[in-house]
Amino acid sequence: MAHHPHDEHEHEHHERGHGHGHGHDHGDIDWAELAPLLEAQAELFTPLYEHALSWLAQEVTEPGLIVDAGSGPGVISSLFAETFPGARVVAVDGSEALLERARARAERQGVADRFGTLAGELPEVLGELDYPADLLWASRSVHHLGDQGAALAACAGRLAPGGTLAVMEGGLPARFLPRDIGFGRPGLQARIDVAEEERFDRMRAELPGSVAAVEDWPALLASAGLHHTRSRTFLLDLPAPATDRARAYVVAALTRTREIIAEDLDADDRATLDRLLDPDDGASVHHRPDVFVLAAHTVHSAVRPV
Ligand SMILES: C[S@@+](CC[C@H](N)C(=O)[O-])C[C@H]1O[C@@H](n2cnc3c(N)ncnc32)[C@H](O)[C@@H]1O
Repeated sequence: MAHHPHDEHEHEHHERGHGHGHGHDHGDIDWAELAPLLEAQAELFTPLYEHALSWLAQEVTEPGLIVDAGSGPGVISSLFAETFPGARVVAVDGSEALLERARARAERQGVADRFGTLAGELPEVLGELDYPADLLWASRSVHHLGDQGAALAACAGRLAPGGTLAVMEGGLPARFLPRDIGFGRPGLQARIDVAEEERFDRMRAELPGSVAAVEDWPALLASAGLHHTRSRTFLLDLPAPATDRARAYVVAALTRTREIIAEDLDADDRATLDRLLDPDDGASVHHRPDVFVLAAHTVHSAVRPV
């Protein structure tokens, strides 16, 4: 089963061969360079994460330790700290630069006293946690690990009995524009999705220790020894007219598409994308009135037997 490059942020998968300032090796993505995009994305998607977290909160009561594995800049980690005021939250990531942002955010949100970070390679670094987790969350990070089944088993192994593992993986490709935008061949975003599927596949194949796996997340969680699997999809629905923030995000996401997969599109679609990104063009995403953000992310959760 193919992965759905379910949102524009999956573009980061395709980053290749840039700087190596993050000091670890998990593919060629320069996560620190992506920090502003990751952070702006997570901030815009906050309503979606809030729904996901309140869904989790129905089942997970008074967790002592919450671990955010592959936290990136920690927008969701801080949301966890706010949603579960009795919990300590540890953000874990391979990029120290991103964890620095996570700590700064926790400070700004007033939750720094129960917020920590742990830098290192997933999933091995989870072995350095002092305590088992009552809730371990991994959003859009497991698919960056070569052996996803082994990664889930490692996560499950760090849960306290009765603890919950929740992974956000899959969903639907995001939409920003109507099918027909008045120029170019209709259906541009669907063709971008196809190109991204191909890139995603190559990204996974090139990961260290890459293992092919059927991306049946409930089955993978069950194989990791967990039970009570549940899946639910959360929507981000920011209709037109877009706010400045949503519009800026669409510009950033399509700019990244242009950088990463433009050569996989045909010349007509490339020209359409160029026009959409030209600030001097009244029909570009900088100005057009019909820009929106519609995205769907799926959370799969499961519980470690007591
Ligand atoms: C797509 S971002 C997701 C960030 C955040 N969880 C979110 O949903 O917005 C993936 C994150 O996983 C981290 N990551 C990817 N591969 C990793 C690895 N092998 N070890 C540790 N962290 C890794 C990256 O540094 C990045 O912050």
